[in-house]
Amino acid sequence: LFSLLAVMMVFLSGCGEDYISALKPSGQVGKEQFNLLMLATGIMTLVVVVVSVIYLLAFLKFRRSKVGENVIPKQVEGSHTLEVIWTVIPIILLLILAVPVVTATYKFADVAAMDIVDEDGNKTALTVNVTAKLYWWEFEYPNQGIVTSQELVVPTGQKVYFNLKAADVKHSFWIPAVGGKMDTNVENLNKFYLEFDKESKDLKDGVFYGKCAELCGPSHALMDFKVKALSPEAFDAWVTAMKATEGKVADKASTDLGEATFANSCLGCHAISGTGVSGAPGPNLTTFGDRNRVAGFLKHDEESLKAWIKDPEQFKPGNLMTGKYGELTDEEIDALATYIMSLSVEK
Ligand code: CUA
Repeated sequence: LFSLLAVMMVFLSGCGEDYISALKPSGQVGKEQFNLLMLATGIMTLVVVVVSVIYLLAFLKFRRSKVGENVIPKQVEGSHTLEVIWTVIPIILLLILAVPVVTATYKFADVAAMDIVDEDGNKTALTVNVTAKLYWWEFEYPNQGIVTSQELVVPTGQKVYFNLKAADVKHSFWIPAVGGKMDTNVENLNKFYLEFDKESKDLKDGVFYGKCAELCGPSHALMDFKVKALSPEAFDAWVTAMKATEGKVADKASTDLGEATFANSCLGCHAISGTGVSGAPGPNLTTFGDRNRVAGFLKHDEESLKAWIKDPEQFKPGNLMTGKYGELTDEEIDALATYIMSLSVEK
């Protein structure tokens, strides 16, 4: 048993990273969820230890007597005292567990602030409409009029409210180090909020990692997103930069081969303006150059991007882009990769 536990510790050693671990929480929601986790683990450990000790004692004390000692032990039939004890103790333990869990559940689901409007009729809370799709994420900021994908950008120091839904099958929205998880469904909207108390720039890769936490298909394990938590000033600057992309489209007649190729082959599914409507068939690429991964997990360079464009199925089985790039020449794919990498609001 000890060697087995020792081996399992190796897996646990990967859980200490503050960009992805629920055991290194950031923000009020994540910290409260972590405390509940510890409370539940503590109570369960206590139960396991007490039951094991009683079991071992009974095992030793009432083991078979030595040969020759043929005494019939005292016969016991029921004990009211024992029954009361083993009923009351679990009730107390469950209450200790249930009261804070139920309280927290209602607290994190309190999204009444989403509907508060200022004197001009504008909603004041920062709200993000999240749509989960096979196998990527779309983030729409309805009060700012901007849309992005694969990268959730949030300010620190305020509650960020989420409307969660799915476009195809059930997924689940989870930022392990900050909070969640919450299912995204096709048939209803789930709502909750999170708080980000520290900027993500000092983390590994400069972002928190978000994951899909519901088995949704062959590429479920690859369905992730990144979270940039910025200071309020930096967030406002990002919103302004996103709005400045309004109306941006690629020109089919451009002298830039990459832009022309994008206009002819990609624009039907992928937007390159951060303003406009959500619901495009493919991820919005406005901030592609600002991301730290291609397709969520490949190295963020032109070589990976080209490999992805040529054969997305090889990397993310079952994704909807598979087979859509047509018959592009190597020259066109080279130019296309350079163009897509140049899409940025931060540079
Ligand atoms: Cu989406 Cu798993």
